[in-house]
Amino acid sequence: MTLLEVKALSKEFDGLRALDGVSFAARGGEILGIIGPNGAGKTTLFNIISGIYPPSGGEINFEGKSILRLKPHQVSRLGIGRTFQIVRPFQNLDVEANVMVAFGHRVYPSLWKSAGSVWQPEIQKEVQDLIDRVGLRPHLKQIAKTLPLGFKKRLEIARALALQPRLLLLDEPSAGLRFEESLQLMGLIRQVCDQGIGILLIEHNMHVVMDLCKRIVVLDHGSKIAEGSPEEIRSNPLVIQAYLGKEA
Ligand SMILES: Nc1ncnc2c1ncn2[C@@H]1O[C@H](COP(=O)(O)OP(=O)(O)O)[C@@H](O)[C@H]1O
Ligand SMILES: [Mg+2]
Repeated sequence: MTLLEVKALSKEFDGLRALDGVSFAARGGEILGIIGPNGAGKTTLFNIISGIYPPSGGEINFEGKSILRLKPHQVSRLGIGRTFQIVRPFQNLDVEANVMVAFGHRVYPSLWKSAGSVWQPEIQKEVQDLIDRVGLRPHLKQIAKTLPLGFKKRLEIARALALQPRLLLLDEPSAGLRFEESLQLMGLIRQVCDQGIGILLIEHNMHVVMDLCKRIVVLDHGSKIAEGSPEEIRSNPLVIQAYLGKEA
């Protein structure tokens, strides 16, 4: 089933076309790779889907409904979670508290209304399950800022999963990680996907993308220049040109 449909999406920043008529669709239980040279518009795409910026034009439908005018908290309530290129846990809280806090609106839907408390047994069980799922059990009581980057990234994924997203946007999760750490993180991402969650993965490491994704969308200068299987992308002259052009 189509989870997310992006149609002719455009974004201008003071005359700069960061996105120019980008269209694609993403399904549940699939990792869709989003690649492209620096400045291609990848993060802008995520910022628009998650409601941080309004687009200049185009449409975005999630599970058949437009999410164009929604604010970030509304988009996340609807079922789209994300992590950021630069990790943002609560640095001075431990792992367990970071995951608990992430339950946010599931427990406290508004200032005036409470659906219970993070201390209720069902939520506490979910907190512990999430910590196991991302492999942070040995670091339960460790303060976030003292975690190695690879574990911080796992924590961010646990925090995003706390809101039970059906689509997860991951912006360069392996950036800054050692090869071993990135392999482990990719294992975790694959597990999340196997549970039926759709994933949009921005990733600069070609090896990782080609290994993890059956389908890849390539952006360059704000436009989609290719979409296809890793084999198709690898041999696509426009893609090769986009990457070689940047290195030259
Ligand atoms: N908030 C903003 N204001 C102005 N320009 C921006 C803003 N965000 C991104 N851009 C510009 O949009 C283009 C695409 O950026 P970005 O989406 O971050 O690319 P990528 O993530 O693919 O490296 C770049 O030229 C960038 O400078
Ligand atoms: Mg980026």
